[in-house]
Amino acid sequence: MGAVAGARCIGILTSGGDCPGLNAAIRGVAKPALSDFHIEVIGIEKGFRGLVENHSRVLHPHDVSGILSLGGTILGTSREKPYKMPLPNGQTIDLTSRAIETYNRLGLDCLVCLGGNGTHKVAYSLMQQGMNVIGLPKTIDNDLAGTDIAFGYDSAVNTAAQAIDRLYSTAEAHLRVMVIELMGHKAGWLTLAAGLAGGADIILIPEIPYDLDSICQHLTERRRRGKWFSIVAVAEGARPRQTAVPEGAAVAVEKAGKKKHKKAKGDRKDGDGAAAFDALGDGRASSAAAKAISKRLGMETRVTVLGHLQRGGVPTPFDRILATRFGTHAAEMLARGEYNCMVALKGADVTAVPLAEVAGKTRLVPPDHPLIRTARRVGTNFGD
Ligand code: F6P
Repeated sequence: MGAVAGARCIGILTSGGDCPGLNAAIRGVAKPALSDFHIEVIGIEKGFRGLVENHSRVLHPHDVSGILSLGGTILGTSREKPYKMPLPNGQTIDLTSRAIETYNRLGLDCLVCLGGNGTHKVAYSLMQQGMNVIGLPKTIDNDLAGTDIAFGYDSAVNTAAQAIDRLYSTAEAHLRVMVIELMGHKAGWLTLAAGLAGGADIILIPEIPYDLDSICQHLTERRRRGKWFSIVAVAEGARPRQTAVPEGAAVAVEKAGKKKHKKAKGDRKDGDGAAAFDALGDGRASSAAAKAISKRLGMETRVTVLGHLQRGGVPTPFDRILATRFGTHAAEMLARGEYNCMVALKGADVTAVPLAEVAGKTRLVPPDHPLIRTARRVGTNFGD
């Protein structure tokens, strides 16, 4: 069965933070493209850097065999953007023209990009420069607009919920407050779902700036009810209400936190939040909360930052199926010559949305989301 109006040769790359399911998605695109639609598939390595510097190799059926449950990405990845390529002197340079040259030199009819927000923004800019692109939504943060869910998220929730299960037993053994910090960038999806699945007593997400009074009251009440230990799940982007400063300054705080916390303009010194925040010096949401809890309530706290464990490892069956569905849907679009969309899940259906509706947008958790309502129903506090 030969391909008719559609693509004859495509490029595929993975860009941005890796996540479980990337290889399942590569396989989902390449297998039908090669065998059903006789489309040549060229793997672009190291993300968009590979497109700029032409790191590419032809993919054969054996290259995508046996990778369904493999973590990471066989193509490698990077966070680089063609229009902002880093130079040794710390400056950046726009090398979009090189990316377009590679696209033409390889004879690509379309570039398939597996990525999150940043990647879809780049894909959209390349589309505006005349390239045909298709995006596949991947991110453990699940913060991509246009799709109900991205692959990689379910695996990260699974890993984080298991970590909370482990913390639960040691919290109970030592009667401590265990604070666990989870990824998610500026969105709270990962912490919300893992917190709910793990039975966290308090869940702090960026979309609901937290109030230390509310947290302390909730922990004190738990104690009054004989619960002398608690689990607090904190999204890396969570901030105390007291220090919920304007966006620009918040970013400054975040950056400062990463490079030794220094005072950002607008960082007010009133109330515990700011003080607790300042006193920590590492700018981490988790240590801010833990320090304030132990300072205020005298409860013993311990902090776990789960970090990149949430990005590694084997994809869950859910993610393998989702990534494969996204991949095969993209292959069918390629065969029909349909481009410039992101594949998406809407309810139970896999469909496609115009890239313009996705690029540069971040999908945050609505404060009245059903998962938040469910968590409140079982007594979870959101620090508000
Ligand atoms: O976007 C995925 C993610 O893991 C975020 O949750 C986190 O903020 C960020 O990437 C970490 O980036 P890096 O791997 O570059 O440290």
